[in-house]
Amino acid sequence: MLVQELGSLDALEVVEMESPALIDGHVRIDILACGLNYVDSLMIEGKYQIKPPVPYRPGSEVVGRVTEVAADVTNVAVGDRVFVPIGIGGFSDQAVVHASRTIKIPSALSDGQGATFMQSYLTAWFAFHKRATVREGATMLVLGAGGGVGLAAVDLGVAMGLRVIAAASSEEKRQLAIDRGAFAAVDVLTEDVKARTRELCGGGVDMVYDPVGGDLAEPCLRALAPFGQYMVVGFVGGIPRLPANHVLLTNRTIVGVDWGAWVGRNQIENAGMLMEVLSFIEQGKLHPVEPVTYPMSKAVQAMQDLQNRKIAGKVALTPQFD
Ligand SMILES: NC(=O)c1ccc[n+]([C@@H]2O[C@H](COP(=O)([O-])OP(=O)(O)OC[C@H]3O[C@@H](n4cnc5c(N)ncnc54)[C@H](OP(=O)(O)O)[C@@H]3O)[C@@H](O)[C@H]2O)c1
Repeated sequence: MLVQELGSLDALEVVEMESPALIDGHVRIDILACGLNYVDSLMIEGKYQIKPPVPYRPGSEVVGRVTEVAADVTNVAVGDRVFVPIGIGGFSDQAVVHASRTIKIPSALSDGQGATFMQSYLTAWFAFHKRATVREGATMLVLGAGGGVGLAAVDLGVAMGLRVIAAASSEEKRQLAIDRGAFAAVDVLTEDVKARTRELCGGGVDMVYDPVGGDLAEPCLRALAPFGQYMVVGFVGGIPRLPANHVLLTNRTIVGVDWGAWVGRNQIENAGMLMEVLSFIEQGKLHPVEPVTYPMSKAVQAMQDLQNRKIAGKVALTPQFD
């Protein structure tokens, strides 16, 4: 799937291309599933901070089956099922990647789960290990808790001993978060999120994880307890303007979380984080959701459904083009 020009999701089109030659150090894979992230649609629309040079093929994380290896490759063999943080080019049926970028994935993970955990879980891992201060037993409100980034934060937060409240718009999304250990859920469409959070936490919540922003942000800042931390993660609902007086009052902190840009400058450290997340998954401490799947030819539909809040959990594309 190729984007000739940034600006509109409709720019995404199926193009038949020659498969690249296999060069030293590389392997060829048949892609089994590719994760679709909200960021992919922002990038295609030209609204993301990173603007890829066009033409480009979207899709940053894939699971594939190795079909061919260069003579000098020793870490992976034909037939292996591997995860690849491919960066770009995942919306394809085949790829040639450097062997060092392939990671054999636990058999317990389905193709779809394996292709959709990375961005969401590494963002949460980065937030909790590198940006915010996590104290076991602290409370955390997660916005968009039934979406990709939010659900991963619920799962990792619970694994790290946080007491999590999940905020989401549908029963299905709230249930996914409860299934991952959230102790309470708030309906963002019908409930007063600030009042309900304060009620559930006896005064205020210690942390807010916010991939949504928009009108929800200010009431959630005000729902923070003294010394509370507000993690700014994303803006699907719009970029909020937060009142500084409510940051000063009771010594709150606003923490920016930009895993996406950090990765570019810290690839070795990020690779270590990825292995830690995979190890947590293997030990059963983290529980990536089984994604909703669409054929690649319906990628635009999938992105629109994501933007229209119709997807609970994650989305994976499978390599079917008609
Ligand atoms: N900071 C970083 O490093 C980083 C890394 C990855 C992603 N992100 C950002 O995180 C954000 C969320 O990504 P995601 O993959 O979790 O997306 P997602 O799977 O679509 O989930 C987003 C959730 O936001 C909620 N939402 C509220 N208002 C919305 C609106 N107007 N339009 C769409 N959704 C709305 C929806 O939940 P309800 O229906 O329950 O309200 C939806 O489930 C994106 O802005 C993305 O760019 C940031």
